Amino acid sequence: MAAALSSSFPFLIFARFSACLVALLVVIWPLHFKDSFISHSPLQEDHIYAVMHPLLMVIGFILISGEAILVHKWLPGSRNLKKLVHLCLQGVALACGIFGIWTKFEGQEGIVANFYSLHSWMGVVCIILFGAQWLFGFMSFWHRGEVRTTRLKVLPWHVFVGLYTYGLAVVTAETGLLEKLTFLQTLGNLSRRCPETALVNALGLGLALLSSVVIVAALTPTHPTLFQLKNNVVVAF
Ligand code: HEM
Repeated sequence: MAAALSSSFPFLIFARFSACLVALLVVIWPLHFKDSFISHSPLQEDHIYAVMHPLLMVIGFILISGEAILVHKWLPGSRNLKKLVHLCLQGVALACGIFGIWTKFEGQEGIVANFYSLHSWMGVVCIILFGAQWLFGFMSFWHRGEVRTTRLKVLPWHVFVGLYTYGLAVVTAETGLLEKLTFLQTLGNLSRRCPETALVNALGLGLALLSSVVIVAALTPTHPTLFQLKNNVVVAF
């Protein structure tokens, strides 16, 4: 455990730091710039849904799934405990993601009202991939009888699809931020250079920073001291 912690420790600290920064920015946005989240509809719920979508997608979906990815790097205890916590956190992230998309379905003029944008298409692909990956992880967690070699063959694909989906979620959020800013600027509610634009740009940069650190931390070998180079020969410990 100590070895695993020592190699990924700086990345874990940096990942938490960038996650806090992203969470802070996405909370400050609707608090300080309330007008940007007021919809044309007179319904109070539509205002709440407009605020909840970015909060649920960024904090609930992206930050929690990032934490779930890192569980294997810091949580002490058995492999099964780590898998269970990983599965539970990913389950919470999936629930937030589904609820976050539902707020958009609910708030506008029906399910297909917003399905014209690249953002909405990527969002749906992302949530379907994430859901399929979670279901696969859930089934393999309860199917302990499977041959170990099959599990080892599938693991790299699980890691690849997991990291790909996480990256896709971040890119989708970036398109969401861009789309929201474009709406506000086109409607004339926002100038190109103003504190709100700077805050949203900083949020986008924060997400880009966070995803890079989470991915590097996830790919850092867990046991770097298992294999060492001695006189140009790889020695296994
Ligand atoms: C992983 C993150 C995200 C995912 C998966 C996602 C997914 C979606 C989906 C599927 C829709 C279409 C819903 C419908 O047709 O009714 C949508 C709409 C929308 N989202 Fe997001 N979203 C994410 C993050 C964000 C963020 C951070 C913002 C920033 C404010 C945002 C802003 C919007 C806006 C303005 C719409 C309505 C216009 C449109 O359909 O493009 N989204 N989102």
